[in-house]
Amino acid sequence: MVCTCLWVTAQQAKTYVIKADSIEAHVQPTMYGIFFEDINMAADGGLYAELIKNRSFEFVPNLMGWTKLQKNGGDGSVEVVDRAKERPENQHYITLSVNSNSGYYGLSNEGFRGIGVKKGETYIFSVMARQHAGSKIILYVQLVNADGSVLGSAALTPISKEWEKCTVKFTANATAEKAHFDVLAKKAGAIDLDMVSLFPQHTWKNRPGGLRADLVQKLADLKPGFLRFPGGCIVEGRDLANRYQWKKTIGDIDKRENLLNRWNVEFKSRSTPDYYQSFGLGFMEYFQLAEDIGAEPLPILNCGMACQFNSGQTVPLDQLDPYVQDALDLIEFANGSTDTKWGNLRAQLGHPKPFNLKLMGIGNEQWGENYIPRWKIFTKAIKDKYPYMQLVSSVGPDPDGEKFDYLNKIFREQHADILDEHYYRSPKWFLSNATRYDNYDRNGPKIFAGEYAAHAEGVTDPYKKNNWQCAMAEAAFMTGLERNADVVKMASYAPLFANIDAWQWAPDEIWFDNLHSYGTPSYYVQQLYSLNKGTDVVPLTLNHQAVTGQDETYASAVLDNKTQTLIIKFVNTANKISDASFVVKGKKLKTTGTLTILHSDSLDKVNSIQYPMAVSPKQQNITIAGNKIKLALKPYSFNIIRVSYSK
Ligand code: AHR
Repeated sequence: MVCTCLWVTAQQAKTYVIKADSIEAHVQPTMYGIFFEDINMAADGGLYAELIKNRSFEFVPNLMGWTKLQKNGGDGSVEVVDRAKERPENQHYITLSVNSNSGYYGLSNEGFRGIGVKKGETYIFSVMARQHAGSKIILYVQLVNADGSVLGSAALTPISKEWEKCTVKFTANATAEKAHFDVLAKKAGAIDLDMVSLFPQHTWKNRPGGLRADLVQKLADLKPGFLRFPGGCIVEGRDLANRYQWKKTIGDIDKRENLLNRWNVEFKSRSTPDYYQSFGLGFMEYFQLAEDIGAEPLPILNCGMACQFNSGQTVPLDQLDPYVQDALDLIEFANGSTDTKWGNLRAQLGHPKPFNLKLMGIGNEQWGENYIPRWKIFTKAIKDKYPYMQLVSSVGPDPDGEKFDYLNKIFREQHADILDEHYYRSPKWFLSNATRYDNYDRNGPKIFAGEYAAHAEGVTDPYKKNNWQCAMAEAAFMTGLERNADVVKMASYAPLFANIDAWQWAPDEIWFDNLHSYGTPSYYVQQLYSLNKGTDVVPLTLNHQAVTGQDETYASAVLDNKTQTLIIKFVNTANKISDASFVVKGKKLKTTGTLTILHSDSLDKVNSIQYPMAVSPKQQNITIAGNKIKLALKPYSFNIIRVSYSK
């Protein structure tokens, strides 16, 4: 459909000039990416599709998430056994003893705020089991709805007297949002159990023990240029003992040492004592995920400093070697030939081809003088061995002020590659910072807008909505990122995911429950930028000035030289129509194009599980005459105008 209703008279319109033959900067293919951190139950209880919480009994207390269960007069006991000396990385298992041949005795798992079950889905139960001498315990497993109805069940009899992985599948007969899972034993005897696990068969790419397909799809739909992982503050840990160590997150899942998630106790008002890291989503899975969704991997490594909002522990400089070695080994793991120690391990884990790692972060959100000597040691060691690596350096938690100025100055003197700026600020801040990068040194370090989000309400209020006001302010600000693509090389909204029942930090880009997920208005802003990033920035001006807030409007333009398309981004933050006439010079435009609008009449509008698309892009066709694009652009709208041009 060609919509003519948007034509307005030239007298009413503001005239914007686009010099399409005057390229100002190239847009990096990596420009718009994603920041993944295991916060808000983004990994366990989220992206990682495991349905059993505390599957290896390593939480404190060990039976957290589990309830003892008797049926039909069954009787028995559960004992947690400590084998720390033998298995320091997986210290506990349970012995389930059944006292009589009648009835059932066992445990029920509550899942991550319940278990989402889908009718017709096949579920794969697996367990490490060891029958005691003389026992022939049968295990009955079942998914049970909140009303007590059985949604699916299976039985299996582990036979080995040594640890053995046993598996059985069953199909669910109904859908449920908050089921639980029972493991019941029958016949007198005793059996040891560990790694009690339940996965849906359908995961992302149907990988066994894989990732939740709907959530990965949301990431793939962003067509991200990079994937930053695994955080965030969890890289640092509340103290160094609880820092993220990538080597402990690869290989057999029962050998990946569980760790308290530092967000577990971070905010009293959003306390989540059951938040641990199983590392089922570990570094191999992160690299694989990046490859699957076409994103450059960007791991962030601990640089010998624990979270400075918590203990702020530092490793003495003469003891930093193992930390540096972890970074060097990670590069070998990602890129090394299969003849190398770590490259060979990558091949054994199923990926002989290198992951082509080029980016790495030295520390997460560090600040202060302790960071500098550690950063120097890391940088020298990495650059000496892998000069092609581009290193990301933190300039602290704020976009200005003492901490920022200190690091910004030093890293510029040190010719750092990429500076990671963070800003969680008000919508107003985002609007007034659309010009932030206009005067940055064009020859200095490049900028990674590594964590940002507009926060609608006071910082002390934990629930800050992902409303349209925030998303629109981000869209306006991002015209400034795009205009300065010669300086800003990468940008990612943060945090990425939030479990509706178990979040610690809001706003977030994507929200989910056990069965559903939705993108916020901010998600669609990110997506529209990413899908329309183009290749070359061209000037778009009003009265010879960049459009950075005049009449409450913000704009930028790029060419996509692969598809020969002019792409204009125009954000009208005013509560009135903006009549615009875009006069395009230097390229001959085709006479039709598209206008994609992200818009709401209400600044307070949000998306939700019930209304996931309340604020979402709508596309229509437009006509163009005389190389001018004339449009009446809606109040409170983010607009993407695409028009092809002749070669
Ligand atoms: O995105 C949430 C947190 O904000 C990150 O973990 C940290 O880097 C920043 O303080």
